[in-house]
Amino acid sequence: MKTYKQKTDFLYIGSKLLIWYHTNKRDLPWRKNTNPYNIWISEIVLQQTQVKQGLQHYINFVARFPNVQSLANANEEEVMLYWKGLGYYSRALNLHKAAKQIINDYDSEFPNQYSQLLKLKGVGKYTAAAIASIAFEEKIPAVDGNFYRVLSRLFADDFDISNSKASQYFSQLAELIMPDDNPGCFNQAMMDLGSAICKPKNPMCGDCPLQDDCRAFAVGKIEQFPVKLKKTKVENLTLTYQFIHHDNQFLVKQRDTSDIWKKLFEFPKNIDLSDFPHEVESEKLIRHKLTHRNLEISIFKINIPDFSDFENLKKEFVFLSLTKDEADQKSFPKPLHDFYVKYFS
Ligand code: ADE
Ligand code: SF4
Repeated sequence: MKTYKQKTDFLYIGSKLLIWYHTNKRDLPWRKNTNPYNIWISEIVLQQTQVKQGLQHYINFVARFPNVQSLANANEEEVMLYWKGLGYYSRALNLHKAAKQIINDYDSEFPNQYSQLLKLKGVGKYTAAAIASIAFEEKIPAVDGNFYRVLSRLFADDFDISNSKASQYFSQLAELIMPDDNPGCFNQAMMDLGSAICKPKNPMCGDCPLQDDCRAFAVGKIEQFPVKLKKTKVENLTLTYQFIHHDNQFLVKQRDTSDIWKKLFEFPKNIDLSDFPHEVESEKLIRHKLTHRNLEISIFKINIPDFSDFENLKKEFVFLSLTKDEADQKSFPKPLHDFYVKYFS
């Protein structure tokens, strides 16, 4: 076990990591050049999902919206459509808003500094650091869960990662090992090491380029790091929908921007049907987990003889009646999407 007396003692760790990255890096489309637009899109997609699942979404997205201009000029619904399957659509809405910001506030030039990137809608410290380092060689660690895990193990550091100061704390630790050159490669090396080697469960220490330097490994206490004291708070939420259908059409309404599922379409929730002829056919209960919510969704399947009675209601509450094909061109939360697809199958 080595002991360290001064800052420069740690820098070789970063160099080792870079050497490892050079031969082990994953071949990914956004690593083929340093175009900030592509890097930005990839980072937002990858906040949502693992590389394996996100890859095709990224490819489809940049094929349709290859640059800031095309994204800014697109209509919001189409941008959301290309986010389908990724979930958390507010990320797509923010991408669209940020593209317009770049056109309007930055003279169509992608901002090239961490401090400017932070001003873009939906771009937080992690994303700004990733873009600034990978596209513009700015030396800022892109601290995410991978960094927490690798650094806490490397230094056997029990700083609580649920503490609001964790990001600041681990940024400082990261700076100890971050070389001056190739900050983008360093950040991506940490991501690759964290996802391929220093995994949350059963890390592959035998294949790790940093094993000689890892204090948690040396003392046999890998499972104790990272330390997380507070569990993520999860709330229960009950939703009750009416799947009101006639022939091949059903009623939907677009959500507003508050709470979950911003701007997605959903079924109506509290239409008073007492004055309309209708037949309740069944109720289906679906449980669905979001990051911070456990949802319990009840869907009443309701048959109506005619949509013409609903014309006034539709106008007043902005309901639409859609066929399946029309619905497929809009964005629905996954459980509601799965429900209507099953209904029509
Ligand atoms: N996860 C988040 N950003 C990434 C990147 N640039 N490469 C690989 N995995 C990532
Ligand atoms: Fe992670 Fe094991 Fe490498 Fe330590 S030796 S950094 S615990 S993979």
